[in-house]
Amino acid sequence: MSTWPANDPSAKQVAGRTAYLILHNTSEVVTPDAEGRRVLRFPRGAIAFRDGRVLEVGPAVELFRHHPDARPINANGKLVTPGLVDCHTHMIFAGHRAAELQMKLAGASYADIAAQGGGIRSTVRATGLVPEETLEKMLANRLERWRANGCTTVEVKSGYGLTPAREVRLLELMAGAAIRVPARVHRTALVLHALPDEYAGRRAAYVDDVREHLLEEVHRRGMASAVDVFCDPVGFTVDECRSVLRRAADLGLAVRLHAEQTERYGGAGLAVELKARSADHLECADESDWRALGEADVVGVLLPAAALTLRQALPEAAMLRRTGARVAIATDFNPGTAPAQSLMECAVLAGRLCGFDANELLLALTWNAARALGAESEVGHLNPGAWGDAVQWECESLEELPYWMPAVRPDTVFMRGADLALPAVERRVWP
Ligand code: NIG
Ligand code: FE
Repeated sequence: MSTWPANDPSAKQVAGRTAYLILHNTSEVVTPDAEGRRVLRFPRGAIAFRDGRVLEVGPAVELFRHHPDARPINANGKLVTPGLVDCHTHMIFAGHRAAELQMKLAGASYADIAAQGGGIRSTVRATGLVPEETLEKMLANRLERWRANGCTTVEVKSGYGLTPAREVRLLELMAGAAIRVPARVHRTALVLHALPDEYAGRRAAYVDDVREHLLEEVHRRGMASAVDVFCDPVGFTVDECRSVLRRAADLGLAVRLHAEQTERYGGAGLAVELKARSADHLECADESDWRALGEADVVGVLLPAAALTLRQALPEAAMLRRTGARVAIATDFNPGTAPAQSLMECAVLAGRLCGFDANELLLALTWNAARALGAESEVGHLNPGAWGDAVQWECESLEELPYWMPAVRPDTVFMRGADLALPAVERRVWP
């Protein structure tokens, strides 16, 4: 669900200003091909944008011949990629859990912390304490930061409301924030995250209420395009997840799962059974799980920040290649396991920890991530017809993206073929 710019009154103006232009003088333009299997590289390439979409991508000399009337924009010899897609975030929350990180480092497990009243439910309390307009503004600021970091498409999950009424409210605030910021926001209802205090001792009633009432409202009001669950011994069982996700699929909502995070528990198999868009985490998945995901064309989403925080190993790229599975990388931005505010930083880490090459990382941050959102026909690449969302980076070659630490910064971020000023907050942090 792309809520920007369809609902944004300034969209027409942006489209008008950028009717027909050509981004040229790049070091190279790189993009996944239309099937998302290979990376195409155009040294000294150019992109022609018209009415916000990509008209043509290729060598600049050819594009200037094909588009003599387009207004030129100079990329100053920089690398240009598609806008990045962060396909897994929990960025609507208040507070932080810095003390928990210290507990984890001292040896406490995710389950120990949850059992002591920390974890997800402590963020639910903190989120409930801030005024709604503050929460909406915080989310809008985060979306600005993501765009400044090169993410033009961002998925946001609810999940820190827990009760059906509070989850609905978070989804409403997400829609409010999305129309304030030029970023494409995909809303996901994370409906089985933790058992709310209000349902203590009434677990079956909670799952029933989610399945029978919450999903129906989410669907009827078009509040989310996908439904997610936390399938884990710390979260909900395979059977509980199946009953909720089946109903979601019957309503026409896409389904996704947090799977195999703290234990190998069956979530990947359920993702295959239900033809989910993605199975995310997978720290405890084995090669047979990845093979099954690959055969079913379910995207496996790696969340390196969460794995690092919980001190878990990430899978080897060589093993993933053998299975043929599509791999995406996302921040998982949340206050417990992944206070990670830059997708490119996560990719730089995954590159080294797993052994991905620069081409694989680009696919994981663009086409494959878009596929996890069901948006690969529109974003995640720069083939003709895609939205004109692109990033001009402060470097010259694709190989530099996973090389520099801290990660390379965007120089300019384009949406609908328009170069958008980076927000003030990022200018302060990265002058
Ligand atoms: O993706 N695992 C479940 N959900 C989040 C963590 C949420 C939290 O700890 O607040 C995750 O890691
Ligand atoms: Fe998550």
